[in-house]
Amino acid sequence: MSKLKNDLFLRACRQEKVERTPIWMMRQAGRYLPEYRAVREKSDFITMCKTPELATEVTLQPVDLIGVDAAILFSDILVIPEAMGLPFEMKENVGPIFHNPIRLSEDVKALKKVDPYTDLKYVLDAVKMTKSELNGRVPLIGFSGAPWTLMTYMVEGNGSKSFCEVKKLINSDPKLAHKLLDKISDAVTDYLNAKLEAGCDAVQIFDTWGGILSQEDFFEFSLEYIVKIISNLKRKDQPVILFAKGVYYKLNKLAKSGADVLGLDWTMDLARVRQRVGDKVALQGNLDPTVLYSDKKVISEKAFQVLESYGKGSGHIFNLGHGILPDVPPENAKFLVDFVKEASVDFHN
Ligand code: CP3
Repeated sequence: MSKLKNDLFLRACRQEKVERTPIWMMRQAGRYLPEYRAVREKSDFITMCKTPELATEVTLQPVDLIGVDAAILFSDILVIPEAMGLPFEMKENVGPIFHNPIRLSEDVKALKKVDPYTDLKYVLDAVKMTKSELNGRVPLIGFSGAPWTLMTYMVEGNGSKSFCEVKKLINSDPKLAHKLLDKISDAVTDYLNAKLEAGCDAVQIFDTWGGILSQEDFFEFSLEYIVKIISNLKRKDQPVILFAKGVYYKLNKLAKSGADVLGLDWTMDLARVRQRVGDKVALQGNLDPTVLYSDKKVISEKAFQVLESYGKGSGHIFNLGHGILPDVPPENAKFLVDFVKEASVDFHN
């Protein structure tokens, strides 16, 4: 792995000493940037994911334009279901649609085993190209959806807000649900291992819909699979970040999942979480993404509150509590990054 000029993010993941708090933003390669929209105007979303040159170009945009301390590969969590044989359409202002959702045992049986080196070669090519273009400026994060979150899309068939179909499945046929989760977990494990091998400096597991489950169900249908995946990763000092949105309980279990970093949404209290599990894991987060609609005074006040909440010392990676919103002014994102870089110095001496 090439030597990094800025490894603040990786040091913070390992809870090592840093000169200031590193910052990156979930969905930082996205529509709030006019430069992203210019690329997107010429190709549809899936083509962008599948074309390493385009994926590399938009991955680098927030590094060049906003000054974040880590790049995250432009792609989507839904490339896994697609490789398993479920194509999707990304509908403008609607989100992803699977026209043949998984409902029956035959559907689960028909899913293909994924070979990341052939089926998802385009992602690995994008990792290598991005690493080479970054030339060690900042680390590159790879990612995957957690099996449970991927399963919600595969079973619902769309960005459902009620999750009736997927909950019907876990309640009426838990055995089939586990069979499906097993298949997805195998694909995620091989995929993350291939990304780590291709050169990602860290990986993040997104469990965006972990918080819609009861506590018992979260453990049974989500966390158990995440723990197994992490334990099967072949990594050389490459940290794992677990972002389980809306999961504010079982923090000790999350901290013992094998992840080096827990990502927190904005409803969580960084100070309290640090108190409970800060000796075991680093913490990432957690500014409310809507703060970026405010003026600079409010942005700096609220960002300072986040820094203060974590407090002094290492082990904090500044981030939003969820993805940056598509209509945020890019200059506000840049202002936040500059502010955190400057204001966080006092928390590290
Ligand atoms: O963070 C980054 O900048 C890297 C790229 C990235 C994207 N999606 C690009 C994207 C990452 C890490 C994701 C993860 C992802 N994708 C998640 C988990 C994180 C989260 O936000 O909760 C989920 C649930 C998805 C599935 C997905 N992709 C949905 C529901 C949507 C539609 C909703 C929306 O925001 O439009 C997408 C589309 C998507 N993924 C876009 C981008 C930049 C916008 C699509 C476009 O350009 O038209």
